[in-house]
Amino acid sequence: MYRHLKPEKNYKPHDYVPLPPPNFDIFHYKGERKYISGLNHLLPVDDDEFDRIQHQHIIYYHVWRNHFSAPIHELLSKGGAKVLDVGCGPAMWTLEMASLYPCSKFTGIDVAPIYPVEIKPLNVEFLQVNIVKHGLPYDDNTFDYVFSRLKGFSYTIKDWKFVISEICRVCKVGGYVEFMEKDVKFDIRKESTRKALSRFEKNLRRKNIEPIISPKIEQYIRETNNFPIINHEKRDVPTGEWGDNENDTYKIGKNNDVIIKWGAKNIKNVMIEVFDYDEKQWDLIVDDFMKELDEHHIYDNIHRIYAKKETERKEEVRKHKFNFSLLRLRSLLSCCKKPKKKSSKNN
Ligand SMILES: C[S@@+](CC[C@H](N)C(=O)[O-])C[C@H]1O[C@@H](n2cnc3c(N)ncnc32)[C@H](O)[C@@H]1O
Repeated sequence: MYRHLKPEKNYKPHDYVPLPPPNFDIFHYKGERKYISGLNHLLPVDDDEFDRIQHQHIIYYHVWRNHFSAPIHELLSKGGAKVLDVGCGPAMWTLEMASLYPCSKFTGIDVAPIYPVEIKPLNVEFLQVNIVKHGLPYDDNTFDYVFSRLKGFSYTIKDWKFVISEICRVCKVGGYVEFMEKDVKFDIRKESTRKALSRFEKNLRRKNIEPIISPKIEQYIRETNNFPIINHEKRDVPTGEWGDNENDTYKIGKNNDVIIKWGAKNIKNVMIEVFDYDEKQWDLIVDDFMKELDEHHIYDNIHRIYAKKETERKEEVRKHKFNFSLLRLRSLLSCCKKPKKKSSKNN
C-alpha cells in the first residue's frame, strides 16, 4: 500500500537543529532489573521490557492492521508534515512510520534515551524529555500529528491531565492528536479472581494511577476546548488460544496471552515494593488470573482516541468578546451622540 512513496526531489532531511546529547545517568537497578529514577513509571526499562514492547507493537499492528486511526495518510504522504511520538520508548512505531512516510519528519521524545541514538533514518530525530516535569519543549501549534501510546503505567491521573494539555497545545490547528491505551478492565466471572483484580485496581488508584484511563483521555482532550469531535475506537483482543484461525485472532490471542503474563512479571518488583504483595502471592494471583482468562474466553481491550484541533477556541472567544464589546461601545457612543446632533439642528 505504501511502497510507491519516495522522498520528493527537493526533500531535505537534514534541516534539524543539532540536539543536546542524552543523559544516561538516570537509571537505577532493583536486582537485575533497570528502572528510571524519580518517575511514576511502573515498568523496567531494560532489554527484556524492550522485547515485550516490541512484541506488543507487532500484536497491535495485527489487531488494527494499521499504525494509526486519525485520517493523516494523505498529509503524511504529501510530505513536510511534522509528527511527534510522545514517550516513544525504543521507538518501533516512530521508525516504522518514518520509513513509510519518508517525506515527513518524525520526532520521538522519551525521558529514557532507549531510542536509537546514532543509527536512524534521516527523517527522524530523538530528544530526551521528561514531559511530566518539563512539559514539551516546543511552541504552540508546532506538529501536524502528535501520537502517544501505552502510558497507562507511566503517569498519575494529574500527570495525564497535564500531558494531554501539552500534547494538545503543540498540535497545529487542523492537525490531529492520537492516543492508544489499554484499560485494565476484564469481564471476570470467578469471585476470587474478581476480588484480586479489584484489589489490584484499588492499589493503583491509591497511588493515583487510573486503571481505566480511556474515558479520562477523552475528558481531558475535551477540556482543552479546541477539539470539538473526539473519536474513540475499541478493539476486543482475545487473551488465549481460542480465537478464530481464519482471521488471525487465534495467533493474536496466543501472543497476547504471552504479553499479559510477561507484563505481570515485569511489574512484579514494583507490586512487591510499593503495593506490599509478596512474591509467591503475586505469582499465584497471576496464575489464577491467566487460567480465568483462558477458561472463560475473556477479552482484553485496547482503545484509540483521536481528535482534530479545529480552532484556537480561546483566541476566538477573546476575539468574539472584543468584537462584542466594540459593538456595545459603538452603540453606546451613537446613543450619546444622537441628542447632541438633534439639539444642534434645533438651534
Ligand atoms: C510502555 S513504554 C511505550 C513505548 C512506546 N510508546 C510504544 O508504544 O512502543 C512507555 C514509555 O514511556 C516513557 N515515559 C514514562 N514516563 C515518561 C515521562 N515522564 N516523560 C517521557 N517519557 C516517559 C518510558 O520511558 C517508556 O519508554
